[in-house]
Amino acid sequence: MITVFGSVNMDLIATTARLPEPGETVAGTSFATAAGGKGANQALAAARAGSSVRMVAAVGQDEFAAPALALLKDAGTDLSAVSPVPGPTGTALILVGGDGENMIAVVPGANGTLDADDGAAAVAGMADGDILMLQMEIPADAVEKAMVEAKSRAIRTLFNTAPLTPDAIRLAGLATIVVANETEFELLIGKSGLDAESRLAEMQALHAKTGQTLVVTLGGDGVVALHDGQVLRAKGLVIDPVDTVGAGDTFCGYLAASLDQGLSFEAALRRAAVAGSLACLKPGAQPAIPLFSDVDARV
Ligand code: RIB
Repeated sequence: MITVFGSVNMDLIATTARLPEPGETVAGTSFATAAGGKGANQALAAARAGSSVRMVAAVGQDEFAAPALALLKDAGTDLSAVSPVPGPTGTALILVGGDGENMIAVVPGANGTLDADDGAAAVAGMADGDILMLQMEIPADAVEKAMVEAKSRAIRTLFNTAPLTPDAIRLAGLATIVVANETEFELLIGKSGLDAESRLAEMQALHAKTGQTLVVTLGGDGVVALHDGQVLRAKGLVIDPVDTVGAGDTFCGYLAASLDQGLSFEAALRRAAVAGSLACLKPGAQPAIPLFSDVDARV
């Protein structure tokens, strides 16, 4: 069983031929809304990968709350710990350029009301051996309390460092598994301009010091991990991306689900990398998360 303690957003998405520079206005080519939020996206990916998933979160009392949860509900996710609170649901304003790259501004709304008590309650509802998945789109004290409680029990935590904040750097040390993209990893260790060799050396040094499993996603170049003293690598699929929003979340959800289902770490990485690639082939975060049958056909 997987518990996700994290954000639920409604994504407001405009596509443009190219992303604007600061201060510039560009013409949009389409507009859509879709369910999103890093927590909800990761929960949906784990559910679509075939795991039982419980979401602990907050939504507002507004018109976005129901559509933001609709795909999670359809996927059979346990939403009994998603609280409606006064005020707006979280929103993300997303621009997607012609090359599939994006810019995102997130307004937390209800996500910002979660606190340490919610973190403790999220873990109290878990069984030993379960996996807790977290990100940084809810307040840091809520994330910290959940991670501290999980650490005091036999609960594995998968911590995605996105969006990377000073609190994320502080909290990463509490996790069993840390998943960062290459930029986040550099911020995490306070070094920049790493090439593949120096990145691996830094990962090895950190792994030797903390014993944590470290996973660094490399976009089209796949993923590299340090797990139980071993260097593991996996490639995704060769694709022409349409929209990369939610690809990292899909990776995290599939990774957690694959570990929950007892796959080896190496097999879990490959399955998650393939899922992340497939998530780039359709617009929107949650609508693009692939089903396990489509992923497993390509692994
Ligand atoms: O990781 C993608 C997500 O980031 C989007 O769904 C958006 O809600 C933002 O939180």
